[in-house]
Amino acid sequence: MSIPVIVDCDPGHDDVFALWLAAGHPSLELVAVTAVGGNVPLEHTSRNARVALTVAGVMGVPVAAGAEGPLSRVLETAEWIHGENGLGGPVLPEPTVPLDARGATELIADTLLAASEPVAIVATGPITNVAVFLRDRPDLAGRIREIVWMGGSTGRGNVTPYAEFNAWVDPEALAIVVGSGIRFTMVGLNVTHRALVTAAVRERLAAVGNRTAAFGDELLDFFCRTNDEVFGMPDGPLHDPVAVAVLADPGSVELVHTRLDVELAGTETVGATSVDFDGMLRREPNAWVATGLDVDRFWGMLAASVSRLA
Ligand code: RIB
Ligand code: CA
Repeated sequence: MSIPVIVDCDPGHDDVFALWLAAGHPSLELVAVTAVGGNVPLEHTSRNARVALTVAGVMGVPVAAGAEGPLSRVLETAEWIHGENGLGGPVLPEPTVPLDARGATELIADTLLAASEPVAIVATGPITNVAVFLRDRPDLAGRIREIVWMGGSTGRGNVTPYAEFNAWVDPEALAIVVGSGIRFTMVGLNVTHRALVTAAVRERLAAVGNRTAAFGDELLDFFCRTNDEVFGMPDGPLHDPVAVAVLADPGSVELVHTRLDVELAGTETVGATSVDFDGMLRREPNAWVATGLDVDRFWGMLAASVSRLA
C-alpha cells in the first residue's frame, strides 16, 4: 500500500529530485505539490514545480502556490546556488502542468479531506506553508500522518556558521511545526552532505537514459558548478530527496528520537537547530533527527524512481 505524500518545496535543483523520487517511487503516491518562496521567489518556485512534473510526465497532480515569504521576516533567496530562475542550467520547457487556482492551504485541506488515510507531508524548503496550514486549519492536523523536513543541521550551517538555509529563512515557522505535536523528522545537513553528486553518481543517474534523467543531468551540471564556486564542493550535496527517502525506504535513513529546538533570537545564531542528543536540557524528546544514510541504497532508489518517469 503506497503512502500518500504532499511535497511542499522551493525548486531549486534538489527539490526537483525530491519531487521525482516522490512521484516515481512505488512506495509513495504523490497527491499534491505546494510551492513556497525560498531558493528563489514564489513566482519561480511555483513555476519550477510545474516544470519538474511536466518534464517527468507526471500529470494530474495539483500544484498550488503558497507563501511568498516567511511568517515575520523578509525573504532571503539563494540565486547564488540555483540561478536567477531557480533552475539554472537547462532551457526550461513551458510547463503543461497548470497552476491550481487554490492556494497551498486550500489544496492541502482538500487533499487531506479527500484522502482515505492520513497523508504525509515532505517539506524541502522554508516550512512556512506547513506552519500557515497548521495555524489556519488546526481541525485537520489529525489527518496528517507525519511531517518530514529537509533542513537544519546537528552541526554547522550553510548560510551562517550555525544556521541551515531553510531553517534560517523562517525559524518561526519551524518552531510552530516542531511544536505542533505531529510526528516531525528533521533531515539536516549532517546527513544530506553525504548525498554527494560525484562523477559516478552523475553517470549512474544519466544512465537511466530517459527524458527526465537527461534534464536532471543538466540540472546537476549547474548545481555542482555553483556548489563548487560557493562552498568548494564540486560534488554538490543533493539535500532534498533524502527527506523523501525517509518515507520511501525508511531503512535507508538512520533516525534518532531526541530533542529539537530552534533559535529565534540569537544575533549570530538565529535559525540554528539545537539537537540535544544527550538530554542536557532535560526536555522531552519532540522530533526524529536523521543521523545516517545508506548512500548507495539512496542513489539506487533515486535512479530506479527516475527510470519510472518519462
Ligand atoms: O540548505 C539546503 C536546502 O535549502 C535545500 O532544501 C535547498 O533546496 C534549499 O532550499
Ligand atoms: Ca529546497
